[in-house]
Amino acid sequence: MIEIKNEHLFVDDYDCVELAEEYGTPLYVISESEILRRCNHLKSDFLNNYNNTKVLYAAKAFLPMAMCKIIDRAGLGLDVVSGGELYTALQAGFAAERIHFSGNNKLREELEMAVDNQIGRVVVDNSYELFLLDNVCWQLEKPMSVLIRIIPAVDSATHHHISTGHKDSKFGMPIEAGEIDSALDFIEQSKWLTFKGFHFHVGSQLFSVDSHLAALDSTFGLLDRLRAEHGTVIEELDVGGGFAIKYLPTDQPLELKQFVEPIMQAIDNYFTARGLKRPKIVIEPGRWIIGEAGLTLYTVGSTKRSASGKKYAAVDGGMSDNIRPALYQSKYHALVANKAALPAAETVSIAGKFCESGDILIEDIALPKVESGDVLAVYATGAYNYAMASNYNKNAIPGVLLISGQNKGLIVKRQDYADLIRNEVIPQFMED
Ligand code: LLP
Repeated sequence: MIEIKNEHLFVDDYDCVELAEEYGTPLYVISESEILRRCNHLKSDFLNNYNNTKVLYAAKAFLPMAMCKIIDRAGLGLDVVSGGELYTALQAGFAAERIHFSGNNKLREELEMAVDNQIGRVVVDNSYELFLLDNVCWQLEKPMSVLIRIIPAVDSATHHHISTGHKDSKFGMPIEAGEIDSALDFIEQSKWLTFKGFHFHVGSQLFSVDSHLAALDSTFGLLDRLRAEHGTVIEELDVGGGFAIKYLPTDQPLELKQFVEPIMQAIDNYFTARGLKRPKIVIEPGRWIIGEAGLTLYTVGSTKRSASGKKYAAVDGGMSDNIRPALYQSKYHALVANKAALPAAETVSIAGKFCESGDILIEDIALPKVESGDVLAVYATGAYNYAMASNYNKNAIPGVLLISGQNKGLIVKRQDYADLIRNEVIPQFMED
């Protein structure tokens, strides 16, 4: 997807310096060919390799309507976590039956939208939600198939904010006898709900398959107990997402195969040993599909040196278009798009324009001499950048440009000043 020609950085045959001129900066650039390459990988290494499997794209990573179309055409399903994501998918014409709905506190109106549109599955997080869902189904006189999210009680080697399967996680039901048994009883009694199986998600940006395997062990223990005590059989098991991507040249994420093979092996072993039919296996990658397909273009403004000699180059965006360095101390790699072939000449820190000391996109990166007017390209910003963008300091959220073979076009327009006050109101009593 990325090439260097005539000293400039190119994405799928488009010169990033020209893109910056034409669309302005900051600008998110997304390569459809990279997304499709990843989707094809999912097909060859997972879907076509194992029968009875399903891939859901985790919408939270990045979900403009155009992304729904790409995922729909690639034949994958969608995992949404809010009414807003569900609404976006439905507006984009995404087939409702290929949508699953996760999240730890779904609102009644969100469940109503899900049931009314007859989405594929609601991934039930807790007993309160189970009762609410049953009530919504009764009210709308429509059924719903459910998975139950379990807490597999494993710690993942990732930032604690994105480790989601540990014992005290806010997501899911404990696997110990209690809530989960009552939930299964309740579903069995319900006229509207059908139990399909279990779901877990252990964490994000994982460089090893160990926590998935540990979570599977917990799940197998649960299945043994439930089979013995209630005769429970599952048709589906969703093992979540979390596969790491390459942010830095030194990162060495596993190949997709290296994740799915041990997972499928462990699952096959368990079910074969007990003479049971293996359930449908679902995976839910988000970052792995979209992360490396995106980059962000910025224009360098001021450059300066501190008294101790540290050089800063400040760009026209920062923590409102990429909160991840400030929130998770995430590291990013970048290139000067108009000096792409030049060797590194200095160490520089890339500062954002926001009024926060923590708004540093990259600490200490070796680049050619960085000067005002340069176009900086930050790599691997496709996942959880636009999705987590804010209007902090009343800055506009950048546009998103999709490159699709010979075609290119904005899939999200840059906000303008009017957008920033669109929902603001001066109530009558404040008028003179
Ligand atoms: N399924 C469920 C239920 C999830 O909670 C998540 C992510 C995924 C799938 C997809 O995980 P992925 O394959 O993208 O790692 N904002 C954070 C990431 C939070 C992810 C939360 N759940 C970040 O910027 O790193």
